[in-house]
Amino acid sequence: MPATYRGAPRLTSAAPRTWPPPHDLLVQGESLDVMRTFASGIFELVYADPPFGTGRDQVRRTVKARSAPDGRPGFGGRPYALETVGETRYSDDIADYPAFIGPRIEEMRRLLSSTGTLYLHLDWRQSHRTKLLLDEVFGEECFLNEIVWAYDFGGRSTRRWPAKHDTILVYVKDPSRYHFDAAAVDREPYMAPGLVGPEKAARGKLPTDVWWHTIVPTNGHEKTGYPTQKPEGIVRRMVSASTRPGGWCLDPFAGSGTLGAVARSLGRPFVMIDQNPEAIRVAASRVGATSTRRRSATAVA
Ligand SMILES: C[S@@+](CC[C@H](N)C(=O)[O-])C[C@H]1O[C@@H](n2cnc3c(N)ncnc32)[C@H](O)[C@@H]1O
Repeated sequence: MPATYRGAPRLTSAAPRTWPPPHDLLVQGESLDVMRTFASGIFELVYADPPFGTGRDQVRRTVKARSAPDGRPGFGGRPYALETVGETRYSDDIADYPAFIGPRIEEMRRLLSSTGTLYLHLDWRQSHRTKLLLDEVFGEECFLNEIVWAYDFGGRSTRRWPAKHDTILVYVKDPSRYHFDAAAVDREPYMAPGLVGPEKAARGKLPTDVWWHTIVPTNGHEKTGYPTQKPEGIVRRMVSASTRPGGWCLDPFAGSGTLGAVARSLGRPFVMIDQNPEAIRVAASRVGATSTRRRSATAVA
């Protein structure tokens, strides 16, 4: 970590003139345009959770219950109705996904340091064709893992197997130099602790490439109300394993700012980018970012 790093994030629309800056950055802008203004090889981790290409807007509404004589019966039999008091949304309609994600994969790779790792968070809609692009841009030898994040929430189709997992594709910049610290990762309870003995059972086991983790709980302290917010627990695993303290982290699709919140808690400096002013507002309040006066985008020297 640079000696001058103070950790107070700055809200900006520009890359800093010199690298590293003395604070974390939250940049409002289009991911490709903004990434192109940063110097090569400066991030130890990129966590990217782009739109999945669902073809519709992602929306989260905040609702409040109010008493309503003609509403449904609630607590104590008193009738109530739900009223929408707020809404956040972003567009997830991308006609040509490879044309969208391809150039951004190239930029993410350019920005990684020689010990760096990319975690690209997708689901069944685009993970297969995106993996081919990743192989092309990084090289097949740089593929590290396909992580399955399995959760159990929401409706269940009875016409097919209900889809309850996301896919996180992991690629490293250099397969002979990448950083990976298994000892820094939280451990999981054994499924059959009686089979491994008390000492091992107490230590738990190293997670595999299948991560069972709840979605962000509705009433949990993490919940921001931003659509498609990811749980800190899964991002913490990535940051803990693939960065050292002081290693810069980048999230080019910040949303509610999960990467920033995790990086901050682990003592890693970060840059987050999002083009949606609503995301910037939520992420800024989550990580305590303050505004800068500079407005024009500037390349890092
Ligand atoms: C899936 S959400 C990210 C959620 C985030 N990981 C979290 O935990 O809250 C994707 C985000 O990408 C942003 N986005 C979509 N296209 C973008 C682009 N071309 N440039 C920058 N941000 C973009 C959207 O505004 C949205 O906030």
